[in-house]
Amino acid sequence: MSDFTHSFWPIYISVITVVSIIGTWVFLRSQTSRKLAPGEKPELMEHTWDGDLQDLNNPLPRWWLGLFYATLVFAVVYLALWPGLGNYAGILGWTSRGAYEDEVKAAEAKFQPVYAGFMKQDIATVAADPDARAIGRNLFLTYCSQCHGSDAAGARGFPNLTDGDWLYGGDPDTIKATITGGRAGVMPPLGVALGAQGTKEVANYVLSLSGRKHDAALAATGKVKFAENCTVCHTLEGTGMQAMGAPNLTDNVWLYGGSETTIVETIAKGRNGVMPAMTQTLGTTSNKEAKLHLLAAYVYGLSHKQ
Ligand code: HEC
Ligand code: HEC
Repeated sequence: MSDFTHSFWPIYISVITVVSIIGTWVFLRSQTSRKLAPGEKPELMEHTWDGDLQDLNNPLPRWWLGLFYATLVFAVVYLALWPGLGNYAGILGWTSRGAYEDEVKAAEAKFQPVYAGFMKQDIATVAADPDARAIGRNLFLTYCSQCHGSDAAGARGFPNLTDGDWLYGGDPDTIKATITGGRAGVMPPLGVALGAQGTKEVANYVLSLSGRKHDAALAATGKVKFAENCTVCHTLEGTGMQAMGAPNLTDNVWLYGGSETTIVETIAKGRNGVMPAMTQTLGTTSNKEAKLHLLAAYVYGLSHKQ
């Protein structure tokens, strides 16, 4: 129940707390036991400031003193009911973890029926439901926007999820598999194998595939090297292979960039984009399956507008 690492600390804290309360009580009493006898005048203490500001020894007003004692009573009652004294749990048995779990249970009970309804529908149907999309959007903003952007349009190295162009595939099951299990793109570094000149040639061939400005002579020699080194993953036509997450190089949609410099860098140094597995991120979160379902539907809906 307590997170103290050593049994000394709960005792240390309890002793300080109890001694402070008792000490304050004793101190208050010692300072306020005196009452003015009937007819007795308060004495003038020795100090006088600013010419006429005098210090008398009047007792504190009762109500004022009462406030001090009230705080001490409050402290004792509080420490009896709630945790505060070292490892003592308090009569009410309140814990922050218990309070959190109660809240989670209440939320689960509230959302369970809603989620269960969506779980019965396939992803395309859920994607068409405005309520499901609203929930999916919130989940996306929580778990995905830091990488894919709040509009899901991505950034360099982080794919755009709204454009209908897919590394791994855009059908409902594949999207769900991507989100659930994560993905790791492996573009091997080929700079050493190709050499600087070879890399430049292949890069120019890649540029030619999507009709970008390129050097035709370099591209012609690059084509042969492409066939030798790249087709296992990108296919001979360069249209890519979703099973490997190897992008289509002919569509002029770029994950890392389509300038000659960037393509040379990609080929020379390789790329390793990692999409984390959401089963781990969502951990033991309640309604985990339903959240994956709603997220997949939300992503599916981004490029399948009704
Ligand atoms: C830590 C960053 C990060 C987070 C968080 C993240 N992603 Fe990704 N995601 C990536 C990267 C990087 C890729 C590309 C992987 C690759 O290059 O092979 C990717 C790929 C994808 C793809 C595949 C796209 C395609 O073209 O096939 C989908 C779908 C996707 N993410 C959805 C999501 C969703 C939904 C979430 C939130 C639940 C999410 N991602 C959270 C980084 C992230
Ligand atoms: C082992 C499979 C494999 C081989 C071989 C391979 N690639 Fe790739 N390539 C990939 C993958 C996977 C990605 C995506 C990397 C990522 O998701 O981070 C990629 C990405 C790229 C990109 C980035 C595209 C973009 O949109 O920014 C270029 C360009 C590229 N490859 C060119 C080549 C060339 C040229 C060769 C041959 C010299 C080659 N690749 C060989 C798998 C491969």
